[in-house]
Amino acid sequence: MSSTATTIAAARGEAGRRGQIIPPQSVENGYDQAWYPICLSTELIDGQVLSVDFMNGRVIAVRDANGSPHVLSAFCRHLGADLAGGDLVDGTVRCPYHHWRYDMQGQCVATAIDKAPPGAKLFRFPVHEGMGIVWAFNGAEPLFDPPSWDVPESQMAFVAAKEYIENNDHFVPFSNSCDIQHLVVVHGMKLDINPESVKITPHTLEYLQSQDAPGMGHLDMLIHLHGSSTLLLSSMTMGRMMYMVSCGRPLPGNRTQIYQACGTPRRDVPGHEQMAAAMNNQSLNFGRQLFNEDRPTFSRISFRQDILTHSDRMLARYFEWVRAYPRTSIACDYIAT
Ligand code: FES
Ligand SMILES: [Fe+2]
Repeated sequence: MSSTATTIAAARGEAGRRGQIIPPQSVENGYDQAWYPICLSTELIDGQVLSVDFMNGRVIAVRDANGSPHVLSAFCRHLGADLAGGDLVDGTVRCPYHHWRYDMQGQCVATAIDKAPPGAKLFRFPVHEGMGIVWAFNGAEPLFDPPSWDVPESQMAFVAAKEYIENNDHFVPFSNSCDIQHLVVVHGMKLDINPESVKITPHTLEYLQSQDAPGMGHLDMLIHLHGSSTLLLSSMTMGRMMYMVSCGRPLPGNRTQIYQACGTPRRDVPGHEQMAAAMNNQSLNFGRQLFNEDRPTFSRISFRQDILTHSDRMLARYFEWVRAYPRTSIACDYIAT
């Protein structure tokens, strides 16, 4: 072994080992307490019960009489029938098996024959709708605000899309924004960032980045991780603010369903709608191009935090942050299949 290699192995104290894993998202380790995209707003139809795979199991999503979304554990507290097979009856979700009925708080309020048992309650996730996406927070109460644009949503022209399933926990694709070496090598960007300028809270990580990206030109971007599974990019392009959001929902088997949303503030000038739609589509396609360039690697990666070098300083901060990120298993038993 060369003296340099010996020094590195000694520094790591793990001769013969390959770096450290980031503990997988799991019932035992917990799932990150973050806002996760459950479905597109357009997928949640009035009067229907939507079945959604989430973390280690399944949830249902429904809209109440006012159109507000709700996300509840999927399995009936009687014998575990999947409520996605049930109906919405008088503002309640009715189980297909013995017709127990649950209100939008997840409380069983009636059965077909007996008195409703007070302890029969589904897990109810905190919910938010915005950016064309229905979000659920993994926890009893949100630890921070849901993702949002900087300007009121009514003033935004935006588009949201369900993308592909990534074959890793979300911290693999979302480490990507901080992974400068790959931005240069895989995506062909020219970058300038100052890792010392990073602002970190327990639930957010943000920094400024100047970049020249093929197809997008020069952008001064604010990169903001809002929770461990939502990445918001904002920049001024051709005199307009442009926002790009990518986010992911944990699926059983340590996979991640990826979504994107892109938006720009509305303007009251002729031709604005077409211009905004064109910009948003360009942003969506730019995001897809980045995903596609990463996919051959992500499909076969055995992800570890191993030997980092000078230009990985931002990535090192990210790993420190994501390892300390709060997790919980509070909903896991309710949603387990
Ligand atoms: S399993 Fe749902 S009512 Fe019996
Ligand atoms: Fe990437």
